[in-house]
Amino acid sequence: MPQGLFITFEGLDGSGKTTQIKRLGAWMRKRGADPVVTRQPGGTETGDRIRELLLNSRTGGLAPLSEMALMFADRAQAIAEVIEPALAAGKTILCDRFTDSTEAYQGGGRELGSDLVLAMHQLICGGLQPDLTLLLLPSLERSLERARRRNERAAADEAKDEGRFEAEQEAFFQRVWEKYRAIASRDSERVVTIEGDLSIDEVQEQIIEAVTMRLTQAHKK
Ligand code: TMP
Repeated sequence: MPQGLFITFEGLDGSGKTTQIKRLGAWMRKRGADPVVTRQPGGTETGDRIRELLLNSRTGGLAPLSEMALMFADRAQAIAEVIEPALAAGKTILCDRFTDSTEAYQGGGRELGSDLVLAMHQLICGGLQPDLTLLLLPSLERSLERARRRNERAAADEAKDEGRFEAEQEAFFQRVWEKYRAIASRDSERVVTIEGDLSIDEVQEQIIEAVTMRLTQAHKK
């Protein structure tokens, strides 16, 4: 059975993850692979309902612990329905956000701290860790600017309200950014940080380089 990789994408809102996942998926398909592409929250029927609740700006007054628990409820569903079956079939998974997002947003942004998030991760996800995490993290200034632009676009989108996080203040996103940095330096083997103010093509090149390297390592095992 070929060994698939569990690859996650992380970054602030507006960091370009979605574009890069699409591009990496297309790149892999051209080479004969058939990656499973998914996202959190969401990616399952139950998860999409949890996503709606979590991201809709009409969900007012959600307690940080409740927010964190819902993120893990979504994750438990995704592991059971999508991630474990795909890995068991030897497929590669490209997942838009995983526990690092909870550590950055709820642990950092909402100030619940890393310990609580990591304890929940252990409980819900067991030993499941990505083989590779691609963290798209431009400078703090650029990240805040992009998050702000996303925020304005989200406010103008009347058809689909996913603006609850985008409506947060700069200080929140600064804490998220700083927590991502701390995760990257703690888990430097797993997390490849793509930083600097790069073009879409340049980011893609770095992603492909990191994925190729990890695939080569996996095949040597
Ligand atoms: P996205 O799918 O457009 O990236 O949006 C998901 C939002 O949910 C984003 O603002 C980050 C947030 N989020 C958390 O706060 N904690 C989590 O664990 C996850 C997966 C996402």
